[in-house]
Amino acid sequence: MKDKLKMLIVSEEEVIADQLHRVLSEEGQMEIVSYKELKGEFDRLSPDLVFVVQTEDESSCVDAIEYIHQENPMAMVIFIAGSQNFQLLRLVTRAGATDFFVFPDEWTLFNGRLESILHTATERKSQYEETAATQQTFKRGRGQVISFYSGKGGSGRTLISSTFAQTLKFESTAQVLLIDLNLQYGGVETFLSIESNRSIADLLPVLDELNESHIRNVSEREPFSKLEVLLSPRDAEVAESLNDQFISKLIRTCRRSYDFVLIDLPVIMNEQTLTALEESDKIFYVLNLDTPSISMLKQVELLFARLGLDMKERVQLVFNEVGRENEIKPNDVKDVLQYPTAVQLKRDIKGVQSFVNKSEPLRKEADEKKIIPFAKNIRKWVSGMIE
Ligand SMILES: Nc1ncnc2c1ncn2[C@@H]1O[C@H](COP(=O)(O)OP(=O)(O)O)[C@@H](O)[C@H]1O
Ligand SMILES: [Mg+2]
Repeated sequence: MKDKLKMLIVSEEEVIADQLHRVLSEEGQMEIVSYKELKGEFDRLSPDLVFVVQTEDESSCVDAIEYIHQENPMAMVIFIAGSQNFQLLRLVTRAGATDFFVFPDEWTLFNGRLESILHTATERKSQYEETAATQQTFKRGRGQVISFYSGKGGSGRTLISSTFAQTLKFESTAQVLLIDLNLQYGGVETFLSIESNRSIADLLPVLDELNESHIRNVSEREPFSKLEVLLSPRDAEVAESLNDQFISKLIRTCRRSYDFVLIDLPVIMNEQTLTALEESDKIFYVLNLDTPSISMLKQVELLFARLGLDMKERVQLVFNEVGRENEIKPNDVKDVLQYPTAVQLKRDIKGVQSFVNKSEPLRKEADEKKIIPFAKNIRKWVSGMIE
């Protein structure tokens, strides 16, 4: 049996503290402290779930949340406000609060959501315990956004991004999220064998208050690595309703909650793809070694320039399906292309094919001995990146 959830209420308001205490005391260990006591007590109590109840001095609320988030980024913080104050709610969200409720108006809503809050907190707790001991830990706050793009279909973006994401999850303690922005057709779900009707589009109704728990509620977990995945709606009409504002808000919120946000992009250059590229810290351009692929990259370069996107600093080339049969070698094109090379991935038809056809992810566990050459390539690449 795992330890019970440790909860903390930070409050100057006795009535609200008691009210919270009543509904929560069954769920685990529970303590109440004042704002003043927080810094002295936090380390000792090391809570998994913290309820910060608003005081008159708004800046102490923000400070308290920032402090908690800094001390233990895995602790889940719920802010209890006294009134609808968008400015303050925005500030506390930025400081690291996962969710907020306005009391007493949203008491019923809070009760309805409580189970899911407790569930998320428990999951984060066990995830942290599983990995913290053995591997390095990551600081949260500003995660890296990495997109996988290509101007040509079938170049390997989806296979590479999903295997990269799985590998990163297996080989580190990082919080990793994979987003499928192939909004019309999807694809990631087939490679990772995830069946679900949930999708990114479920976040549309909560866009204005979008936060980490919304994302964790809508994401699916890849069963082997427990990688979190935001699936595509796979519906052209729904896809159209997700505008550039939605995409940028989504990516920014994810960046605040995960160490790595990996995005599988479609070929089509529309406002959604463009926004994702703009929000990315790094773009892995997947390139096959044939003339059509190379001339397509040249076209994409021109398009980026026309759109005023400065990609030089961000794009790295991922040579895919590299093999002896290829007439063109990576070295032949390095000089004509203006981007640095991130990695060369082997053509591994024998290895990849059987997984893809069975709709099985390439990786099953950490430190796997027997993995196919392509997955080995990816593992070496990922290890090099997180060192
Ligand atoms: N290095 C590789 N070795 C063998 N097969 C590959 C390799 N890269 C991609 N493939 C195969 O090529 C096909 C297209 O890949 P996919 O990831 O769907 O491309 P994209 O997302 O760019 O359209 C898939 O069936 C995939 O398994
Ligand atoms: Mg694809």
